[in-house]
Amino acid sequence: MLLDAARTAAAHAYAPYSGFQVGAALRTTTGEVFTGCNVENASFGETICAERNAVTTMVAAGHREIDTIAVTGSTDPCWPCGACRQVLAEFGCRRVVVAGPDGAVEVDFADLLPHSFALKTAKTPPDGRG
Ligand code: THU
Repeated sequence: MLLDAARTAAAHAYAPYSGFQVGAALRTTTGEVFTGCNVENASFGETICAERNAVTTMVAAGHREIDTIAVTGSTDPCWPCGACRQVLAEFGCRRVVVAGPDGAVEVDFADLLPHSFALKTAKTPPDGRG
C-alpha cells in the first residue's frame, strides 16, 4: 500500500530544524513506485519537500506520468504544499492519498489544484530531448 511506503520514507526524513517528518510514495501510470522524504538544510530555503524528492527520483529513473501519490507526516492529514502541487501537476498526477483519522482519504488531484499553470502538455518533445 502506498501509505505504508510513505511511512517508511518519512522515518528517513532529515528534519532537524522543524522536527516535522514527511514521507511520500507515488505510483506511476505503469505501476512503478518511488518514494521521497523531506530533506532540510541550515539555509532553510534549500529544504526539499518529500513529494518533490519522490518526483525527482521518478524522473531520474525514466518515468514521467504519476497516477497516485500518498503523503504522511508527523501529524496527519499532511496535504502536499502548493509548490509540490504545481510540480505534481507537471507530471499528470491523478489522485492524492493522505492519512485521515479513520483511514486513508483519497481525492482527485484536480480538486487540490484546479486551473494549474502549464506551458505545454507534451512531456517528450518530438526530437526526444528534454
Ligand atoms: N514539507 C514536506 O515535505 N511536504 C509538504 O508538502 C509540506 C512541508 C516539509 C518541509 C519541511 O521540512 C517540513 O515539512 C516543515 O515545513
